[in-house]
Amino acid sequence: MEGRQIGGDLDGPTAMALLAEGEVSVVGRLLAASNATFYCLVARSPSHLGPGRFASCVYKPVRGERPLYDFPDGTLARREVAAFTISDASGWDSIPPTVLRDGPFGPGMVQLWMEVDPAVAASDLIDADLPALRRIAVLDAVLNNADRKGGHLLPLPDGRILGVDNGLSFAIEPKLRTVLWRWRGQPLDNAEVAGLERLRSAMAAELGARLRDLLSAGEVAATIARLDSLLAQRRFPRPDRSRPAIPWPPF
Ligand SMILES: Nc1ncnc2c1ncn2[C@@H]1O[C@H](COP(=O)(O)OP(=O)(O)O)[C@@H](O)[C@H]1O
Ligand SMILES: [Mg+2]
Repeated sequence: MEGRQIGGDLDGPTAMALLAEGEVSVVGRLLAASNATFYCLVARSPSHLGPGRFASCVYKPVRGERPLYDFPDGTLARREVAAFTISDASGWDSIPPTVLRDGPFGPGMVQLWMEVDPAVAASDLIDADLPALRRIAVLDAVLNNADRKGGHLLPLPDGRILGVDNGLSFAIEPKLRTVLWRWRGQPLDNAEVAGLERLRSAMAAELGARLRDLLSAGEVAATIARLDSLLAQRRFPRPDRSRPAIPWPPF
């Protein structure tokens, strides 16, 4: 993410510093959301010099997480940050900058708000054979994402596509549920394999250490095992007939 434009006039490090250090104020609640999810402004004091004075963001307080039967309570914000950390280490930039921090309703995750291209419909996206979508499909296989809905894909005006709402990830048992099955069983391309190799080596170093702060030891080990298996197969996963393969509702 180093030096690249992430959203608006912000590069990656500037966005991360603003998200981590700015003051978060709630503008409104996202009513389409299933958890307490707030649309917020994150702003530096007027004395702050340089770029990155303010941005829009999403804030999901841990306290507002709806309990789920298949994920431990109060862990979704950390899972979202772990998903971003993996996307960042892969070099694919498939998830908006996301941090764990305190906010107006206590600790939670804060993620940069990305303006989408209103001309692109989610239903068109999920059928498209685009490199950015392939990378999200590979990333979701690493994350074991159980909730890749059409509405969690953000088409940006510059052509990038990002994935949001990544909290239902990192279960130990296989749970991949996605609308992105177009490439099932097909070979990964060289760039996709290279991204997985970058992740695998980073797991033995700083990425592994950061994930152990956010996930259980078993969840980190299962993530490494999924990476090893993807690198051995070098193919997109196929749906498993013994469990649901598509999130409900799919959008
Ligand atoms: N970082 C973001 N930038 C732009 N839009 C977002 C972002 N995060 C979420 N959204 C939009 O808000 C909706 C609700 O957020 P989501 O993360 O799905 O909340 P919930 O966990 O409550 O389902 C998403 O479907 C998406 O349209
Ligand atoms: Mg959602």
